[in-house]
Amino acid sequence: MAKLTILEFPDPRLRTRAREVRPEDFTPALQQLIDDMFETMYDAPGIGLAATQVDQHLRFMVMDVSEDSADPRVFINPEIIESDGHQVYQEGCLSVPGVFADVTRANQITVRALDRHGKHFDLQADGLLAVCIQHEMDHLEGKVFVDYLSPLKRELVRKKLAKQRRGAA
Ligand code: NI
Repeated sequence: MAKLTILEFPDPRLRTRAREVRPEDFTPALQQLIDDMFETMYDAPGIGLAATQVDQHLRFMVMDVSEDSADPRVFINPEIIESDGHQVYQEGCLSVPGVFADVTRANQITVRALDRHGKHFDLQADGLLAVCIQHEMDHLEGKVFVDYLSPLKRELVRKKLAKQRRGAA
């Protein structure tokens, strides 16, 4: 397994719209990429990672919202087929390190996807899992959670990250 580099806002590659995963994409290389994404996510540490964030523009994401890294989930070609209510959650993102902000999203969703072996499943989710699914699906559309903030706040985020990077250099 190998750790992957996570793209950071405002990297323009985060704006790429990922393409559907096709039957011929289910190769050992895809399984390796999924394993590497889990390793990268757990190491960060984070609870979700979309392929977009590691510069792989395929429609899938990995996730584990459990306390003890015991519930790894893979969503390939995810689609939200039902959603209801709303919730506000203070989100963060491995591509926007050190920044947290309230985002309003659906409270309950039903997501339809393929697992890592290409098998269909439907999952009902609420709370943090529902937030995380919607957040990662945004990445696959080229969207980052700071897009929900006002232009002024987004500019402050961009400056804060630029300063952090200078500090780290
Ligand atoms: Ni994110």
